[in-house]
Amino acid sequence: MSDDEIDVELEARLEEQEEFEPPEAFVEQANVSDPAIYDDFEENWPDEWERAADLLDWEEEWDQVLDDSNEPFYEWFVDGKLNAAENCIDRHLDERGDEAAIEWVGELGETRTYTYRDLHREVNEFAAALREQGVEEDDVVSMYMPMIPELPIAMLACARIGAPHAVVFAGFSADALAERMNAANSEYLVTVDGYYRRGDPLQHLEKAREGLDKVEQDATTIVVDRLGDDSEIDPLPEERDYDELVEAHSGETVDPVTRDAEDMLFLMYTSGTTGKPKGVKHTTGGYLSYAAWTSHAVLDVKPEDTYWCSADIGWITGHSYIVYGPLALGTTTVMYEGTPDYPDKDRLWEIVEDYDVTQLYTAPTAIRAFMKWGTEYPEQHDLSSLRLLGTVGEPINPRAWKWYYKHIGNEECPVVDTWWQTETGGMMITTLPGISNMKPGSAGPPLPGISADVIDPSGDPVEAGRAGHLVINKPWPGMLRTLYKNDERFIDEYWDEYSIPERDQWVYFPEDGAKIDDDGYITVLGRVDDVLNVSGHRLGTMEIESAIVGVEGVAEAAVVGGDHEVKGEAVYAYVITEDGQEESDALRDEIIEAVEDAIGPIARPEQIIFTPELPKTRSGKIMRRLLEDIADGNELGNTSTLRNPDVVHDIQQKVHGD
Ligand code: WTA
Repeated sequence: MSDDEIDVELEARLEEQEEFEPPEAFVEQANVSDPAIYDDFEENWPDEWERAADLLDWEEEWDQVLDDSNEPFYEWFVDGKLNAAENCIDRHLDERGDEAAIEWVGELGETRTYTYRDLHREVNEFAAALREQGVEEDDVVSMYMPMIPELPIAMLACARIGAPHAVVFAGFSADALAERMNAANSEYLVTVDGYYRRGDPLQHLEKAREGLDKVEQDATTIVVDRLGDDSEIDPLPEERDYDELVEAHSGETVDPVTRDAEDMLFLMYTSGTTGKPKGVKHTTGGYLSYAAWTSHAVLDVKPEDTYWCSADIGWITGHSYIVYGPLALGTTTVMYEGTPDYPDKDRLWEIVEDYDVTQLYTAPTAIRAFMKWGTEYPEQHDLSSLRLLGTVGEPINPRAWKWYYKHIGNEECPVVDTWWQTETGGMMITTLPGISNMKPGSAGPPLPGISADVIDPSGDPVEAGRAGHLVINKPWPGMLRTLYKNDERFIDEYWDEYSIPERDQWVYFPEDGAKIDDDGYITVLGRVDDVLNVSGHRLGTMEIESAIVGVEGVAEAAVVGGDHEVKGEAVYAYVITEDGQEESDALRDEIIEAVEDAIGPIARPEQIIFTPELPKTRSGKIMRRLLEDIADGNELGNTSTLRNPDVVHDIQQKVHGD
């Protein structure tokens, strides 16, 4: 593999990197500040991982830290027993019962505080309600909800009774919901009548209804009333009302069900190379230990903090770092329902000031938007409560990093640029804020106990500074255990590429390109498969293409990611129409609608380019890389090896009009 086959468009980030030392005041109080931790993990691996498990309360201790007898189906904290809800709620009641567990800020400015005792009460009541509705241990309960407190409450109620949850991002379409519920054979859905966006009600129930129409099994549906009189959709047949159910079980308690460490805590569907989303399975013991450990070591979460991750719980970041990690540590976690620019562009900074937020964890796409809006918005607020800043979801360019460090952190907060994935359960590559120097644009070294490399196609490490494929060489507690009911695809997707089972070398391939420096710092360059990262959201090009070719009059489509100032990547769709089909705006609209129906507005193409042909190699493979270069307006290399070199100029003209 040569460098140019790997996505190195973020060249600007690779310019000489400055280093920043962790602020002294931070180091003095950091949860983890002794550099010996790296050696401890190295010398005492895997047993050192007990540090993570020890952050939790176990009903029965594990017999073995890691069982690797059936690679790559690793098991962690074998035979340990625990309950995730009990760890996130009950065990904090004595000391922190009256402290806030969740501070919720609604889009319309209303607020709700749930103390640990409040959370305990409502989670128990809803757990009792779920039981009464027939939910049993190991039944998959789907959730299709926006950022309202009932979402984490429902998740924890499921965890309490040992029913795995499968949360579907509320911005996904009805079809996407149905596809996921069908794949998980889920017979229960918790959803909401609607929510608010920019002050207006959004009728979510309509989408839920359309989705349910396409679900093959009967599904019991519970609906939260968020809109009150603003709801315009008739109730679903047989729908149960969340508030009525909770009321009917008022004051009831449900004993937390004892779960095996390896029992499934939840399923999370994510995009891969092929059209079908992958059902990533996470476990009770390993995942929860890992979420708690990384929250402790990287986000420096302490019980007395008011910690805020501005992600959506519909994605893995929200699962690990709004719900499970922070609540396992007994801290206060902030949830915000709305958008960062409503009612004005200082909304986030207002919340930081109002709640004295101590850590902020957000995405580079948001930071780029803040930069664009200007420093006058953060300057209107006192942000001095902040102690640490974090980013996740996509590469951050040094300019955005420095802006964040300076204008939000006042050069007093370490910035952790955390690389990880839905599949890894928690952070994998990042500096430890109380130990390591920070290099803007580079995530940092692998966390203690994590073994990562950047390799070439034959599996050899690449030279320092050169691009290659990122791999993880050793298992870790937070890793996915398999793809739901599809062990074969699990091996195929993640392990086949570089593992040599005969030599007992199992290597996890996250499908990212990266470079590694002499000092072991890793800069992640982006996906090397057909997955896009639009505003930090993971989207499969195949899923988008299959929606587009479903439109009448479309013969073929190729979707690639082009650079975008704020979103990081944007969807570019190159479309060939059938003979006789006019390349009209009406067709463009239909294509957009089809993509929104299949996936959701986040996948909406930035540009749809009609073309008579797609550039193809002599063997007939679409040259996606060339289509990306065209979208980005890059100089094109040698195109003479194409089967149809003439088409390139035509397409360029259509995209850029020159
Ligand atoms: C990308 C989100 C560079 C990467 C937690 C990965 C990043 C994909 C970073 C996973 C980072 C995430 N720097 N790239 N700090 N964090 N990514 O599953 O391409 O939604 O494979 O998990 O996001 O996206 P996912």
